[in-house]
Amino acid sequence: MTLKFVRYAAWAGIVLLAFSVGLASVLWYRGQSQTQTTGIASIGGDFSLVDTNGARVREADFLGKPRAMFFGFTHCPEVCPTTLFEATNWLQALGSDADKLAFLFVTVDPERDTPEVLKEYMSAFNANVVGLTGSRADIDAVVKAYRVFARRVELADGDYTMDHTAAVYLIDAKGAFVGSINYTEDQDAAVAKLKKLLGKG
Ligand code: NI
Repeated sequence: MTLKFVRYAAWAGIVLLAFSVGLASVLWYRGQSQTQTTGIASIGGDFSLVDTNGARVREADFLGKPRAMFFGFTHCPEVCPTTLFEATNWLQALGSDADKLAFLFVTVDPERDTPEVLKEYMSAFNANVVGLTGSRADIDAVVKAYRVFARRVELADGDYTMDHTAAVYLIDAKGAFVGSINYTEDQDAAVAKLKKLLGKG
């Protein structure tokens, strides 16, 4: 790891943290006001994606269970592995209730994150976390529906990285957005949010 890379990763982490905290607040506020005024979720909705076995999945496949969704990419230097390791701890803390929650990791980099690549990557984390990819059009559609920020950033060496929303979306069993967990949020607070989502809070 070069110093340049470390500096870049640290910088990117700070930017994403600031962005995710800000966005999560906006999302939370919108989620609250939508719930109070119309009952119609403005964030979320149907999607058509591909799981790590290459099978087509839609939102309907996950309805009936509360859901946590995180958007990222397997080449992510810090935010994604950190969040997925933390998610592994959250799910462990939930014990047998973890099975009552659908936890989805959706790539914003489908060009590199094929089902095979994603499958290998997900094997490092909790088996309850489902990796999802799709065509560029599939990903663009889910990113838009869930109001995710995702942007390709070219690197000097010809490679590229992705800036992306770092918050974990919390969605109820009917598909309504109800809140989020911020990047590096305290574990007890995160687990409390998941328990509340499961109706155990
Ligand atoms: Ni990431």
